[in-house]
Amino acid sequence: MGDITDMPLHKPVMVEEVLDYLHPQPGHIILDCTVGGGGHAIKILDKIKPDGFLIGIDKDMEILQTTKQSLSKTAGKFKLYHADYSDIDEVLRQADIDKVNGVLLDLGVSSLQFDQADRGFSFAKEAPLDMRMDRSCGITAQNLIRRLSETELAELLWKYGEERRSRRIARAILKEEKGVGITTTRQLAAIVERVVPRGKGKIHPATRVFQALRIAVNKELENLEIFLDKIYNYMAVGARIVIISFHSLEDRIVKNKFIEKAKQNIFRVLTKKPITPREAEIMENIRGRSAKLRAAERI
Ligand SMILES: C[S@@+](CC[C@H](N)C(=O)[O-])C[C@H]1O[C@@H](n2cnc3c(N)ncnc32)[C@H](O)[C@@H]1O
Repeated sequence: MGDITDMPLHKPVMVEEVLDYLHPQPGHIILDCTVGGGGHAIKILDKIKPDGFLIGIDKDMEILQTTKQSLSKTAGKFKLYHADYSDIDEVLRQADIDKVNGVLLDLGVSSLQFDQADRGFSFAKEAPLDMRMDRSCGITAQNLIRRLSETELAELLWKYGEERRSRRIARAILKEEKGVGITTTRQLAAIVERVVPRGKGKIHPATRVFQALRIAVNKELENLEIFLDKIYNYMAVGARIVIISFHSLEDRIVKNKFIEKAKQNIFRVLTKKPITPREAEIMENIRGRSAKLRAAERI
């Protein structure tokens, strides 16, 4: 299994659009809450140097080690924190910072995690069913499956994967779990392939199941809501928040929270409709295909 340093770099999505909306200026304090491999952070550091400061957060400790090396090659000042962005209060307390000028969230899994077979995010690679972004805590996808009843698993697949055949798939998964047990990604994908026939040109039948389990394992939607309910407290007047999401569940939360905060005179929404990548970028970077960017300004 490859070491993370052997992996190809994560290609940041919608860089120009992020810089346009975030509008980082020399001297700004910017919070990159999903710093990942540092693709966006490097570009931001370039705009805020020499006196600006970037706080990079990621719940994946393994990624942060390489990110520190990459960002150290730039002239910008930064500090990285191993934390969940929903714990933003604690991170800013440690950093001794009250207000920031910009906030970025580029949600989901990075290609560094996806391509690292032993993380279990990809059904194309045989690996233990882990799927935790933070391997120092929480329960793995394998243990989650073990703990759920058929109804609970079906609900999870329906809610987080918008999977129409959730009940049938849940039944098949738990049948195998109670029989030989389910331990690997390919084994889970094969069960779904048996239950759901692959439509022509359609996404792989296991895609939604993997998405649903990953969202549940990492509590992705809960963390996003917690974060959006408090981040504005730490944004200076005029500070921008930019969020890139990759599926409709996340995008809906961002859209609704922005509208709610606009009604409370906390945010001015800068993107009436979500911004999507240009055709040329999609051709170059397949991960960008489903990206949606929304931005707001603290008023
Ligand atoms: C799409 S990647 C970000 C890539 C980054 N923008 C770049 O250009 O390299 C998303 C990152 O967010 C991290 N992440 C996801 N949810 C998180 C959370 N709740 N708290 C902290 N980090 C999170 C993941 O571990 C992953 O490294």
